[in-house]
Amino acid sequence: MELLDLMKYRRSIRKYSDQQISKENLQRILEAGAYAPNAGGCQRSIIVAVHNQELTEKIGILNLAKFDRSNLLGSYVSKEQPSIIDDKSIKNGFYNAPTVCIIFTPRNFLYGVPDAFCCAENMVLEATNLKISSCMVARAEETFDNDFGRELLKKWDIPDGFVARCFVLLGYCNGEYPKGKSRKIERIKIIEE
Ligand SMILES: Cc1cc2nc3c(=O)[nH]c(=O)nc-3n(C[C@H](O)[C@H](O)[C@H](O)COP(=O)(O)O)c2cc1C
Repeated sequence: MELLDLMKYRRSIRKYSDQQISKENLQRILEAGAYAPNAGGCQRSIIVAVHNQELTEKIGILNLAKFDRSNLLGSYVSKEQPSIIDDKSIKNGFYNAPTVCIIFTPRNFLYGVPDAFCCAENMVLEATNLKISSCMVARAEETFDNDFGRELLKKWDIPDGFVARCFVLLGYCNGEYPKGKSRKIERIKIIEE
């Protein structure tokens, strides 16, 4: 598939089957993340891949624990793939994805957030290229703000001062892959003079 067609085909998937992705594919997706543009060329991001559905579920439940739906009233994300905003019965913020990557950057670095999301974008594109479904998920820092979360950061040797910025969910779509979502192209302008 041409790159632009792949970008249009990619969707955020919120229903995963139990099928795990291979370690070989995971390594390619992580490599794509490592090759993302990064501020100052300093390659500060740390990417941790949890390749274990039991553990992704535990972390996914923590991801939702502090989520406040009250200020999102009226929001609607997707008809075919309901999000935690649309469907209150969802308890796992990772939608049962069997693999979840967590991107950390330094707390006090001005471009920590954009660096993390550049990694995440490269990763979801390579995942799509490998026919693996994906979704970026926010609320990363809050997810680890509890005893279990802090224990994991210690176990994974995350240096002090680094903060989780976002998650990239990986797995296989349970059911039909949704069609490409149209975009408001009137937002785009070309200035020639
Ligand atoms: C910064 C960012 C944060 C996001 N956080 C979440 C999230 O927490 N949960 C979720 O289900 N989707 C999340 N998404 C996915 C968006 O909802 C999704 O990209 C958007 O609805 C467009 O749909 P598409 O990716 O299928 O084209 C996030 C996307 C971005 C870029």
